Amino acid sequence: MQPFNPPQRTLMGPGPSEVHQNVYQALSKPTIGHLDPEFLRLMNEVQVMLRAVFQTKNQLTIPVSGTGSAGMETLFVNFLEPGDKVVVCVNGVFGTRMADVAARCGATVVEVKAEWGTAINPADIEVALTQHPDTKLLAIVHAETSTGVLQPMDEVAELAKKHDVLLLLDAVTSLAGVPVELDQWGVDGCYSGTQKCLSCPPGLAPISVSDRGLQLIRNRTTKPQSWYLDLSMVANYWTVGNRAYHHTAPINMNYALHQALRLVLDEGLEARFKRHCENSEYLWQELEKLGLERFVDASIALPQLNVVKVPKGVDEAGVRARLLNEFGIEIGAGLGPMAGEIWRIGLMGESSRPSIIDQLIVALKQVL
Ligand SMILES: Cc1ncc(COP(=O)(O)O)c(C=O)c1O
Repeated sequence: MQPFNPPQRTLMGPGPSEVHQNVYQALSKPTIGHLDPEFLRLMNEVQVMLRAVFQTKNQLTIPVSGTGSAGMETLFVNFLEPGDKVVVCVNGVFGTRMADVAARCGATVVEVKAEWGTAINPADIEVALTQHPDTKLLAIVHAETSTGVLQPMDEVAELAKKHDVLLLLDAVTSLAGVPVELDQWGVDGCYSGTQKCLSCPPGLAPISVSDRGLQLIRNRTTKPQSWYLDLSMVANYWTVGNRAYHHTAPINMNYALHQALRLVLDEGLEARFKRHCENSEYLWQELEKLGLERFVDASIALPQLNVVKVPKGVDEAGVRARLLNEFGIEIGAGLGPMAGEIWRIGLMGESSRPSIIDQLIVALKQVL
């Protein structure tokens, strides 16, 4: 076997996104022990910075060892017990995945659906919660990566409060790209991933749990079905004063996340959100000159994931292959029922830059 040398790529798909040089440097620093006092200090700083990015005071705000889906599983297996009822909003791949995970916990799942490419209608959530007054939890995806829809949250948050249900939010693609305001919305459980707008390699799933959510976990009558993701034990490792060994944390990934969070906060959340919006506007201005159209209405379109209708007669996969092979640019295909219909262009974190957009437009012009 020869050493592996990855090809040079420009990452403009639905994640992973481009990674800053300082984050790669952090990743390659010497590994120390997972109970080394200096590592424990880094863990404290990661938690402080994650709270700032999630816009929350939630004490239990930590990176779970695993990708975004591990964050999803963590919250469902800890919040749900067999027989619980959950309302899951489904308008794409990741709502579908949440419903699957909830059902595997032994919960009764009520789905609130919307057409792919549209947002969930709060009126439909109201109907479901009224028809099912024994609902424990409402789960929704903030940024549906399979379609490029940004779910407006104010009304959803009001409904969760009105019907007194726990609110669980998927912020894998939204965190650090558009405002995610956990305390303002009263979110009880939120999970994300490192490889989207945090611009870190994949491998950790930042999560945050409200005090109410934590109380519920502590008062469970059954143990969560997953030992690895049992938050009552994982939290002990992350909590100052306890620090009991649970599993060996991915040390170097935590160095990388620490550095990525420093970059996010140095830029400032407001400035970062503005940059994502401005670059998305620039991308669309250029795409429209090529005659390309939006898949999602601009009022609910994600700035960090821009979804384009594949023009009639164009070889969808052929275009992506040429972008990759001739220009080193990765863009995303459609998933599930959207396969062959759309391209997904990510402008997440470090990938949200005018120079990268210019590169793509030059390449697209030639290929199309
Ligand atoms: C909205 C959303 N939720 C969950 C996931 C799952 O994350 P991962 O692939 O990191 O496990 C993704 C990944 O793309 C996602 O976009």
